[in-house]
Amino acid sequence: MIVGVMGAMPEEIDPLLKRLENVKKHEIADNIYYTALYGSLDLVIAYSKIGKVFSALTTSIMIEKFGIQKLLFSGVAGAINPSLKIGDLIAATKLCQHDLDITAFGHPYGYVPEGRVFVEADTNLLEIASDVARKKGIALKRGIVATGDQFVADAARKEWIGKTFGADALEMEGAAVAVVCDALDIPFFVLRAISDAADMDAGFDFDTFLQSSAIKSADFIFSMLDAIDQA
Ligand code: ADE
Repeated sequence: MIVGVMGAMPEEIDPLLKRLENVKKHEIADNIYYTALYGSLDLVIAYSKIGKVFSALTTSIMIEKFGIQKLLFSGVAGAINPSLKIGDLIAATKLCQHDLDITAFGHPYGYVPEGRVFVEADTNLLEIASDVARKKGIALKRGIVATGDQFVADAARKEWIGKTFGADALEMEGAAVAVVCDALDIPFFVLRAISDAADMDAGFDFDTFLQSSAIKSADFIFSMLDAIDQA
């Protein structure tokens, strides 16, 4: 099986690459895609660069050029739900675009005609994640993840996103990955470790906790790869 593993930043995929041998590099569309064998799995790994456009591009290339059959996203997020603390893991049940706004035409936030406000993650991959969490004794939370082309460092904006979409965490790529995978029928899973609380301290916290939280997320994704390999 060919499995794509994606992050947005080098820090989000480096912990994965470090654990693989005979990694090959492929340069496509101004980005680098890494391939490696892991057990019975053919892995395709890349960081997209930050934001919805780059992550949609990378997802499309993984699917159309590398033929991935599942996509796992690993990275960090800002917490909206106060029960989420720095380092906690959240698996997205569904994702939305908090910055998509044609409300001037009477549509709800996050909606464009022929689209949907929310795109659901694959239930089978969510189940695999819950099994992995149980076996490892990790408290994996599930929740709604809101995506936008903004680093949110503002309590009012965060509250608005939480209230408008019922979102638990926010980041800058997940919903773009979700839209592309949904359109091309590829099961996907988005995992995020909390790096900050999207408030006035978010910039400082992000810089402080990016690496440690990205490693937590990547470690969990590695265990999911083991579970997928052994299934
Ligand atoms: N990813 C991690 N923290 C974030 C934040 N506060 N805003 C957007 N994306 C993030």
